[in-house]
Amino acid sequence: MNDSKIIDGKLISSQIKEEIKVDVEKLKHEKGITPGLAFILVGEDPASKVYVNSKGKACEQLGFYSITKTLPEDTTEDILLKQIDEFNEDKNIHGILVQLPLPKHINELKIIEAINFKKDVDGFHPQNVGRLVTGAKSFTPCTPYGITELLKRSNVDTTGKNVVVIGRSNIVGKPMANLLLKKKFNSTVTVCHSATKDIKSYTLNADIIIVAMGKANFLKGDMIQDSCVIIDVGMNRVEDNTKKTGYRLTGDVDYEDCYDKCSKITPVPGGVGPMTIAMLMKNTLESAQGNVFNDD
Ligand code: GUN
Repeated sequence: MNDSKIIDGKLISSQIKEEIKVDVEKLKHEKGITPGLAFILVGEDPASKVYVNSKGKACEQLGFYSITKTLPEDTTEDILLKQIDEFNEDKNIHGILVQLPLPKHINELKIIEAINFKKDVDGFHPQNVGRLVTGAKSFTPCTPYGITELLKRSNVDTTGKNVVVIGRSNIVGKPMANLLLKKKFNSTVTVCHSATKDIKSYTLNADIIIVAMGKANFLKGDMIQDSCVIIDVGMNRVEDNTKKTGYRLTGDVDYEDCYDKCSKITPVPGGVGPMTIAMLMKNTLESAQGNVFNDD
Protein backbone atom coordinates (compact mmCIF):
# COMPACT_ATOMS: atom_id res chain seq x y z
CA MET A 1 0.00 0.00 0.00
CA ASN A 2 1.47 3.30 -1.10
CA ASP A 3 -1.20 5.70 0.06
CA SER A 4 0.04 7.84 2.97
CA LYS A 5 -3.47 8.05 4.41
CA ILE A 6 -3.60 4.33 4.96
CA ILE A 7 -2.03 2.97 8.11
CA ASP A 8 -0.59 -0.28 6.79
CA GLY A 9 -0.78 -2.78 9.63
CA LYS A 10 0.54 -5.57 7.50
CA LEU A 11 3.73 -3.65 6.75
CA ILE A 12 4.20 -2.31 10.29
CA SER A 13 3.57 -5.74 11.83
CA SER A 14 6.14 -7.32 9.54
CA GLN A 15 8.69 -4.69 10.62
CA ILE A 16 7.95 -5.48 14.28
CA LYS A 17 8.25 -9.21 13.58
CA GLU A 18 11.66 -8.66 11.97
CA GLU A 19 12.79 -6.79 15.11
CA ILE A 20 11.50 -9.65 17.26
CA LYS A 21 13.32 -12.23 15.13
CA VAL A 22 16.64 -10.49 15.80
CA ASP A 23 15.96 -10.45 19.56
CA VAL A 24 14.95 -14.12 19.55
CA GLU A 25 18.25 -15.10 17.93
CA LYS A 26 20.11 -13.02 20.48
CA LEU A 27 18.23 -14.60 23.40
CA LYS A 28 18.91 -18.09 22.07
CA HIS A 29 22.57 -17.34 21.44
CA GLU A 30 23.35 -15.46 24.65
CA LYS A 31 21.14 -17.22 27.19
CA GLY A 32 20.10 -20.47 25.52
CA ILE A 33 16.43 -19.50 25.92
CA THR A 34 13.79 -20.11 23.23
CA PRO A 35 10.55 -18.18 23.79
CA GLY A 36 7.72 -20.69 24.27
CA LEU A 37 4.02 -20.05 23.78
CA ALA A 38 1.20 -22.48 24.63
CA PHE A 39 -2.24 -22.22 23.01
CA ILE A 40 -5.38 -23.78 24.37
CA LEU A 41 -8.36 -24.03 22.06
CA VAL A 42 -11.64 -25.42 23.38
CA GLY A 43 -14.39 -26.38 20.96
CA GLU A 44 -15.03 -25.85 17.30
CA ASP A 45 -15.49 -22.09 16.81
CA PRO A 46 -14.25 -21.58 13.23
CA ALA A 47 -12.93 -18.04 13.77
CA SER A 48 -11.01 -19.17 16.88
CA LYS A 49 -9.42 -22.02 14.91
CA VAL A 50 -8.26 -19.55 12.25
CA TYR A 51 -6.82 -17.17 14.88
CA VAL A 52 -4.94 -19.90 16.75
CA ASN A 53 -3.61 -21.25 13.47
CA SER A 54 -2.28 -17.81 12.46
CA LYS A 55 -0.68 -17.31 15.85
CA GLY A 56 1.00 -20.73 15.62
CA LYS A 57 2.37 -19.84 12.18
CA ALA A 58 3.82 -16.60 13.55
CA CYS A 59 5.62 -18.64 16.24
CA GLU A 60 7.16 -20.81 13.55
CA GLN A 61 8.23 -17.78 11.48
CA LEU A 62 9.93 -16.09 14.43
CA GLY A 63 11.69 -19.13 15.87
CA PHE A 64 9.47 -19.56 18.95
CA TYR A 65 8.62 -22.92 20.46
CA SER A 66 4.86 -23.39 20.47
CA ILE A 67 2.37 -26.04 21.45
CA THR A 68 -1.38 -26.14 20.81
CA LYS A 69 -3.78 -28.16 22.98
CA THR A 70 -7.11 -28.64 21.26
CA LEU A 71 -9.85 -29.77 23.61
CA PRO A 72 -13.41 -30.85 22.75
CA GLU A 73 -16.44 -28.57 23.21
CA ASP A 74 -17.65 -30.57 26.25
CA THR A 75 -14.35 -30.27 28.15
CA THR A 76 -14.97 -29.71 31.86
CA GLU A 77 -13.64 -26.74 33.76
CA ASP A 78 -11.50 -29.13 35.84
CA ILE A 79 -9.77 -30.61 32.81
CA LEU A 80 -9.08 -27.15 31.44
CA LEU A 81 -7.72 -25.98 34.81
CA LYS A 82 -5.40 -29.04 34.93
CA GLN A 83 -4.09 -28.21 31.45
CA ILE A 84 -3.40 -24.62 32.48
CA ASP A 85 -1.57 -25.84 35.58
CA GLU A 86 0.65 -28.04 33.44
CA PHE A 87 1.69 -25.05 31.35
CA ASN A 88 2.08 -22.88 34.46
CA GLU A 89 4.69 -25.38 35.71
CA ASP A 90 6.46 -25.86 32.36
CA LYS A 91 9.81 -23.99 32.30
CA ASN A 92 9.84 -23.99 28.50
CA ILE A 93 6.58 -22.06 28.33
CA HIS A 94 6.74 -18.28 28.79
CA GLY A 95 3.24 -17.44 27.56
CA ILE A 96 -0.16 -19.14 27.86
CA LEU A 97 -3.08 -18.15 25.65
CA VAL A 98 -6.56 -19.59 26.16
CA GLN A 99 -8.47 -18.61 23.04
CA LEU A 100 -11.74 -16.81 23.82
CA PRO A 101 -14.67 -17.14 23.73
CA LEU A 102 -14.93 -20.35 25.75
CA PRO A 103 -17.98 -22.66 25.65
CA LYS A 104 -20.84 -21.33 27.80
CA HIS A 105 -20.50 -23.94 30.57
CA ILE A 106 -17.00 -22.72 31.41
CA ASN A 107 -16.46 -19.72 33.68
CA GLU A 108 -14.13 -17.49 31.68
CA LEU A 109 -12.90 -15.41 34.63
CA LYS A 110 -12.05 -18.54 36.64
CA ILE A 111 -9.95 -19.80 33.73
CA ILE A 112 -8.16 -16.49 33.19
CA GLU A 113 -7.41 -16.26 36.92
CA ALA A 114 -5.87 -19.75 36.86
CA ILE A 115 -3.14 -18.66 34.44
CA ASN A 116 0.08 -17.61 36.17
CA PHE A 117 -0.12 -13.85 35.61
CA LYS A 118 3.58 -13.83 34.74
CA LYS A 119 2.72 -15.99 31.71
CA ASP A 120 -0.50 -14.13 30.87
CA VAL A 121 0.70 -12.69 27.55
CA ASP A 122 -2.89 -11.68 26.68
CA GLY A 123 -2.87 -9.30 29.66
CA PHE A 124 -6.35 -10.44 30.75
CA HIS A 125 -5.54 -11.64 34.29
CA PRO A 126 -6.85 -9.26 37.01
CA GLN A 127 -3.23 -8.72 38.15
CA ASN A 128 -2.27 -7.44 34.73
CA VAL A 129 -5.49 -5.44 34.34
CA GLY A 130 -4.90 -3.78 37.73
CA ARG A 131 -1.27 -3.08 36.90
CA LEU A 132 -2.25 -1.50 33.59
CA VAL A 133 -4.71 0.78 35.37
CA THR A 134 -2.29 1.78 38.13
CA GLY A 135 0.71 2.19 35.84
CA ALA A 136 2.87 -0.72 37.12
CA LYS A 137 4.71 -2.99 34.70
CA SER A 138 2.38 -5.55 33.13
CA PHE A 139 1.54 -7.38 29.96
CA THR A 140 -0.45 -5.04 27.75
CA PRO A 141 -3.40 -6.64 25.92
CA CYS A 142 -2.28 -7.30 22.36
CA THR A 143 -4.86 -5.38 20.32
CA PRO A 144 -4.60 -2.10 22.29
CA TYR A 145 -0.81 -2.52 22.36
CA GLY A 146 -0.84 -3.00 18.57
CA ILE A 147 -2.95 0.13 18.12
CA THR A 148 -0.53 2.30 20.12
CA GLU A 149 2.33 0.93 17.98
CA LEU A 150 0.37 1.76 14.80
CA LEU A 151 -0.16 5.33 16.03
CA LYS A 152 3.45 5.72 17.14
CA ARG A 153 4.94 4.34 13.95
CA SER A 154 2.58 6.48 11.83
CA ASN A 155 3.69 9.62 13.74
CA VAL A 156 0.28 10.23 15.28
CA ASP A 157 0.80 12.15 18.52
CA THR A 158 -1.67 11.19 21.26
CA THR A 159 -0.73 13.82 23.86
CA GLY A 160 -3.69 15.98 24.82
CA LYS A 161 -5.76 14.55 21.98
CA ASN A 162 -9.44 13.75 22.26
CA VAL A 163 -9.69 10.02 21.73
CA VAL A 164 -13.07 8.36 21.46
CA VAL A 165 -13.10 4.59 21.97
CA ILE A 166 -16.32 2.93 20.83
CA GLY A 167 -16.81 -0.41 22.60
CA ARG A 168 -16.11 -1.44 26.20
CA SER A 169 -14.96 -5.06 25.91
CA ASN A 170 -12.34 -6.46 28.27
CA ILE A 171 -10.22 -7.42 25.25
CA VAL A 172 -10.15 -4.06 23.43
CA GLY A 173 -12.24 -1.09 24.64
CA LYS A 174 -11.45 -1.03 28.35
CA PRO A 175 -7.71 -1.77 28.12
CA MET A 176 -7.43 0.65 25.17
CA ALA A 177 -8.89 3.47 27.25
CA ASN A 178 -6.63 2.70 30.21
CA LEU A 179 -3.53 2.47 28.04
CA LEU A 180 -4.15 5.87 26.43
CA LEU A 181 -4.71 7.43 29.86
CA LYS A 182 -1.15 6.50 30.86
CA LYS A 183 1.29 9.44 31.07
CA LYS A 184 3.17 7.91 28.15
CA PHE A 185 0.20 8.57 25.83
CA ASN A 186 -1.52 11.38 27.73
CA SER A 187 -4.81 11.34 25.85
CA THR A 188 -8.20 12.59 26.96
CA VAL A 189 -10.31 9.47 26.60
CA THR A 190 -14.05 9.01 26.17
CA VAL A 191 -15.53 5.51 26.02
CA CYS A 192 -18.81 5.13 24.14
CA HIS A 193 -20.84 1.91 24.10
CA SER A 194 -24.18 0.39 23.19
CA ALA A 195 -26.11 2.50 25.72
CA THR A 196 -24.42 5.80 24.79
CA LYS A 197 -26.88 8.43 23.59
CA ASP A 198 -25.90 10.21 20.39
CA ILE A 199 -22.45 8.73 19.72
CA LYS A 200 -22.05 11.22 16.88
CA SER A 201 -21.88 14.13 19.35
CA TYR A 202 -18.70 12.51 20.76
CA THR A 203 -17.07 11.39 17.52
CA LEU A 204 -17.53 14.84 15.93
CA ASN A 205 -15.18 16.20 18.58
CA ALA A 206 -12.58 13.42 18.35
CA ASP A 207 -9.02 13.69 17.03
CA ILE A 208 -8.67 9.91 17.10
CA ILE A 209 -11.55 7.41 16.90
CA ILE A 210 -11.00 3.76 17.78
CA VAL A 211 -13.98 1.61 16.82
CA ALA A 212 -14.30 -1.83 18.42
CA MET A 213 -18.02 -2.53 18.64
CA GLY A 214 -18.58 -5.37 16.17
CA LYS A 215 -21.12 -3.57 13.97
CA ALA A 216 -20.31 -3.53 10.25
CA ASN A 217 -19.85 -0.06 8.67
CA PHE A 218 -21.11 1.79 11.78
CA LEU A 219 -18.90 4.90 11.60
CA LYS A 220 -20.01 7.18 8.73
CA GLY A 221 -18.41 10.24 7.16
CA ASP A 222 -20.94 12.62 8.71
CA MET A 223 -19.96 11.43 12.20
CA ILE A 224 -16.33 12.61 12.01
CA GLN A 225 -14.46 15.89 11.88
CA ASP A 226 -11.90 16.82 9.22
CA SER A 227 -8.43 15.31 9.63
CA CYS A 228 -9.29 12.83 12.38
CA VAL A 229 -7.44 9.51 12.63
CA ILE A 230 -9.57 6.37 12.43
CA ILE A 231 -8.61 2.98 13.82
CA ASP A 232 -10.97 0.17 12.83
CA VAL A 233 -10.86 -2.91 15.07
CA GLY A 234 -13.97 -4.47 13.53
CA MET A 235 -13.81 -7.84 11.82
CA ASN A 236 -17.35 -8.61 10.64
CA ARG A 237 -18.39 -11.31 8.21
CA VAL A 238 -20.97 -9.97 5.77
CA GLU A 239 -22.66 -12.08 3.17
CA ASP A 240 -21.10 -11.77 -0.29
CA ASN A 241 -22.09 -14.23 -2.97
CA THR A 242 -19.28 -13.10 -5.27
CA LYS A 243 -16.78 -14.67 -2.84
CA LYS A 244 -15.93 -18.36 -2.77
CA THR A 245 -16.50 -18.45 0.97
CA GLY A 246 -19.87 -16.70 0.62
CA TYR A 247 -18.75 -13.81 2.84
CA ARG A 248 -16.29 -10.95 3.02
CA LEU A 249 -14.65 -9.30 6.01
CA THR A 250 -15.59 -5.76 6.77
CA GLY A 251 -14.75 -3.39 9.60
CA ASP A 252 -16.85 -1.25 11.95
CA VAL A 253 -16.04 1.80 9.82
CA ASP A 254 -17.66 2.74 6.53
CA TYR A 255 -14.24 3.09 4.90
CA GLU A 256 -15.38 4.64 1.60
CA ASP A 257 -17.57 7.17 3.38
CA CYS A 258 -14.88 8.29 5.87
CA TYR A 259 -11.84 8.11 3.61
CA ASP A 260 -11.86 11.65 2.12
CA LYS A 261 -12.44 13.45 5.39
CA CYS A 262 -9.99 11.66 7.71
CA SER A 263 -6.21 12.17 7.77
CA LYS A 264 -5.37 8.52 8.43
CA ILE A 265 -7.30 5.27 8.50
CA THR A 266 -6.65 1.56 9.00
CA PRO A 267 -8.01 -0.87 6.39
CA VAL A 268 -9.83 -4.13 7.15
CA PRO A 269 -8.24 -6.56 6.63
CA GLY A 270 -4.59 -5.51 6.90
CA GLY A 271 -4.87 -2.90 9.66
CA VAL A 272 -5.22 -3.82 13.31
CA GLY A 273 -5.51 -7.61 12.83
CA PRO A 274 -1.88 -8.41 11.98
CA MET A 275 -0.71 -6.11 14.79
CA THR A 276 -2.50 -8.17 17.45
CA ILE A 277 -0.41 -11.19 16.51
CA ALA A 278 2.83 -9.20 16.36
CA MET A 279 2.26 -7.84 19.87
CA LEU A 280 1.43 -11.30 21.21
CA MET A 281 4.86 -12.37 19.96
CA LYS A 282 6.41 -9.26 21.53
CA ASN A 283 4.79 -9.98 24.92
CA THR A 284 5.98 -13.59 24.80
CA LEU A 285 9.51 -12.52 23.87
CA GLU A 286 9.55 -10.06 26.76
CA SER A 287 8.30 -12.74 29.12
CA ALA A 288 11.13 -15.04 28.00
CA GLN A 289 13.61 -12.19 28.45
CA GLY A 290 12.34 -11.73 32.01
CA ASN A 291 11.63 -8.05 31.37
CA VAL A 292 8.05 -7.64 32.45
CA PHE A 293 8.05 -8.32 36.17
CA ASN A 294 11.71 -7.75 36.97
CA ASP A 295 10.83 -4.95 39.38
CA ASP A 296 8.72 -7.18 41.68
N1 GUN B 1 -10.42 -13.82 21.19
C1 GUN B 1 -10.46 -12.71 20.43
N2 GUN B 1 -9.34 -11.96 20.62
C2 GUN B 1 -8.59 -12.64 21.51
C3 GUN B 1 -7.31 -12.38 22.09
O1 GUN B 1 -6.64 -11.37 21.85
N3 GUN B 1 -6.86 -13.34 22.97
C4 GUN B 1 -7.58 -14.44 23.27
N4 GUN B 1 -7.06 -15.28 24.16
N5 GUN B 1 -8.76 -14.70 22.76
C5 GUN B 1 -9.25 -13.80 21.87
